[in-house]
Amino acid sequence: MSMKPVIRYMQDDDVDQVVIYDREVIGHTLGKDTILNELSENPFAHYFVMEDESTHAFLGMISMWIDSPKAQIINIYVLPKYQSLGFGSVLLNFFMDYLKSYEIDEVTLEVRPSNLKAIHLYEKYGFAQVSIRRNYYDNGEDAYLMLKRM
Ligand SMILES: CC(C)(COP(=O)(O)OP(=O)(O)OC[C@H]1O[C@@H](n2cnc3c(N)ncnc32)[C@H](O)[C@@H]1OP(=O)(O)O)[C@@H](O)C(=O)NCCC(=O)NCCS
Repeated sequence: MSMKPVIRYMQDDDVDQVVIYDREVIGHTLGKDTILNELSENPFAHYFVMEDESTHAFLGMISMWIDSPKAQIINIYVLPKYQSLGFGSVLLNFFMDYLKSYEIDEVTLEVRPSNLKAIHLYEKYGFAQVSIRRNYYDNGEDAYLMLKRM
C-alpha cells in the first residue's frame, strides 16, 4: 500500500463523511450545519481534505482560521490506520506553506496535555506551550495553548 497524499479544499459533498470521521478520530464535531456554514459563509475559515491521489481515499483533514496577522488551527487529524506514516507532517507542512500567502505573525492551537504525539509534532514545527486553558475539553481536561511566532 503506497499512498500519495494530496490536499485539496473541502467541498460541501465531503461534509457528511467528515462529520463521521471527526467523531471517530477526535470524538467531537462542529456538525454538518456549522461546517457547511464555515465553507460557504466564513471568509476566515479554510478547510482542507487530504486524500490519496489515485484512490481518493480520505486520509485526514486540517481546518484553520486565518485573520491576518493571526492564524489558528481549528482541527487537524489523520485517520488512525494512516497515523505515524508522516501524514500529520504533510498536513503541517502544507499549513505552513499556505500561510505564506498571508501576513501572519502568530499561529495558535489548543491541544490536550495527554496528546504527547501531537505535542511532539507541533514542537517540531516550532510551536511552544504558552498557557493552560483550564477545563477546556468536555471531559474537564485542560488544554495547552501552543503558539508559533512567524
Ligand atoms: C496528531 C496527528 C495529526 C499526527 O499525525 P501522524 O500522521 O500520526 O504524524 P506523523 O507520522 O507525521 O508524525 C509526526 C511526529 O509525531 C511523532 N510520532 C509519530 N508517531 C508516534 C508515536 N507512535 N508515538 C509518539 N510519537 C509519535 C513523531 O515525533 C513524529 O515526528 P518524527 O517524524 O520526527 O518521528 C495524528 O496522530 C492524529 O490525527 N491524532 C489524532 C487526532 C489528534 O490528536 N489531532 C490533534 C488534536 S490537537
